Amino acid sequence: MILERSNMFNNEGINKELTRVIGSEHVQEFSNLVRYYRLCQSAVNEIGTKLENLDGEYRGEYDHNPIHHMEQRMKTITSLFNKAEKKHLDRDIESIKQNIFDIGGIRVVTNYISDVYTIQKNLLSQSDIKLIKTKDYIKNPKPSGYRSVHLVVSVPVFLSTGPVNTPVEIQIRTVGMDMWASLEHKLRYKTNVADEKVEHFENQLVEDANEIFKIESNMQNIYRELSDPRVFKDE
Ligand code: GTP
Ligand code: MG
Repeated sequence: MILERSNMFNNEGINKELTRVIGSEHVQEFSNLVRYYRLCQSAVNEIGTKLENLDGEYRGEYDHNPIHHMEQRMKTITSLFNKAEKKHLDRDIESIKQNIFDIGGIRVVTNYISDVYTIQKNLLSQSDIKLIKTKDYIKNPKPSGYRSVHLVVSVPVFLSTGPVNTPVEIQIRTVGMDMWASLEHKLRYKTNVADEKVEHFENQLVEDANEIFKIESNMQNIYRELSDPRVFKDE
């Protein structure tokens, strides 16, 4: 069910990109960063397994899959260094650890709107998970129309030296919200729209996002009539 894994999900991928970005003569200076990337990868794997287990429980108990699919990604070194620069941070491992929480990320695409909250609630109730940050862009959509629940949690990764609490960014959204976000992202970043046209398109995109939300709410209402009521017990 986990579909995408970037090539950053192995030591070779990280080392290759690090070499490209900073030059092979400096790679050694970043060995702690490589080690931290490995930790973040493991943390994403831990969360992925927890979510698969939750989905399996719902499937078995209530004949319902909250999760449509998941995507895991590691931030590229280039994007990490750009973000550090934007935040006026040094590239040293301590300031990265203290200020950047989305090196490891997982996107959970759910079938229904209520599933977003089922996933959030069940994950956060686990005793080893600590919530660091929440943003609910479904209750409060962004001006662009973007909807999604963003969490940053920390999860213990058990190394040979003991457990290390490690942050993971989790974006939870429905298939409809994901479809909109993916197309909107491409429209925004991959096209050169003339300035005077932008405003018109922006308004149109907000309307489209609202319409998708309405359709997903309607379809959820139909599902609610037809399914085991325990599917909605976490609302
Ligand atoms: P950064 O993580 O540093 O960017 O800051 P932040 O945590 O304040 O950012 P935010 O909560 O806005 O989430 C950032 C991520 O959400 C982006 O990387 C996108 O994946 C997604 N996102 C946020 N706003 C939009 C939007 O308007 N359109 C689309 N397509 N994606 C968005
Ligand atoms: Mg982010």
